[in-house]
Amino acid sequence: MDTYILGIESSCDDTSAAVLCNNILLSNEIASQKVHEQFGGVVPELASRAHQQNIIPVVEAAIRTANIDKKQLSAVAFTRGPGLPGSLMVGVSFAKSLAWSLGIPLIDVDHMHAHVMANFLLTPGETRSVPQFPFLCLIVSGGHTQIAIIKNPLEREIIGNTIDDAAGETFDKAAKIMSLPYPGGPVIDKLAQSGNASAFRFAKPRIPDLNFSFSGLKTSILYFLRDELKKDENFIEKNRADLCASIQKTIIDFLTEKTEKAVKETGIKTLALAGGVSANSGLRAAMQQLAANYNLDLHIPKLSYTTDNAAMIAMAGYFRYQQGLFAGLNAVPYATGAKV
Ligand code: KG4
Ligand code: ZN
Repeated sequence: MDTYILGIESSCDDTSAAVLCNNILLSNEIASQKVHEQFGGVVPELASRAHQQNIIPVVEAAIRTANIDKKQLSAVAFTRGPGLPGSLMVGVSFAKSLAWSLGIPLIDVDHMHAHVMANFLLTPGETRSVPQFPFLCLIVSGGHTQIAIIKNPLEREIIGNTIDDAAGETFDKAAKIMSLPYPGGPVIDKLAQSGNASAFRFAKPRIPDLNFSFSGLKTSILYFLRDELKKDENFIEKNRADLCASIQKTIIDFLTEKTEKAVKETGIKTLALAGGVSANSGLRAAMQQLAANYNLDLHIPKLSYTTDNAAMIAMAGYFRYQQGLFAGLNAVPYATGAKV
């Protein structure tokens, strides 16, 4: 019998719902919140209010696009954390009510683990191969930067972590310093394509082991631009593409260097990328080069499943469903860390 999982994601500023039939994605609806653009970052209060407005239409659209009746659903999977508490609360409460009213199980999913599971999503008719366990995964998002060994669909061992800012946060903050719109990652990525990545040099952080640090880079960008703007107030405008390319290269080189170290240390030959920053064209190219150098089996999610989406929540939920790992109606969101 087929298993139909409804996934619900509301951890930050995207309200999303998706329907999965076994491991095949039938729908993935996303309502992005434009309200934050004018503030240059996510405003938590506004985010939870927008989730409340979006959640019912988004879930209805996901069920309609999947062309199923909600009575066919086997379970409701939701993001329990990490994320903004007010935003998570909307998805958690909605998932509980829907599962309870339909008399079906509720599944709690960790958002970061779900980013990794996006690598297992298949669309109807798609025959792409999926990663074999155990595999290494570079997880790069707005709030996290980790290298993990993914042992099975339920377990990840984090072997490297950022000690301060995340990679996505660094893209966003660098963009803000240059007065570019939020989120800065995609904008820098686009501008970098016509820039010279060797035009400016920013010191790469020196951090031991497989850990990351990005706060020094952010400060060095800030001071460099402050000094240059004193000499020429149009410095940023004149050098925008070169600045973007140079900043992006510094971030990518650092991510690649640590991933290479993890490959060498673990001897694992399968590598996957996950999280919003894995949409970055330069990072994708750098990982392809790394995979070619070390003869790795590389998996990168489709662009639409790199940034926040409910398809990945449904996918992670499907693996938990198979093991009978259900949540109670007393499940509460968590802002940081991982509990599932
Ligand atoms: O995974 P995600 O959607 O949300 C979190 O869980 O944080 O990641 C969002 C982050 C933002 O910082 C955004 O700037 C970054 O992913 N991002 C990118 C690109 N697309 C999104 N960073 C670099 N290049 C991109 N193309
Ligand atoms: Zn995310």
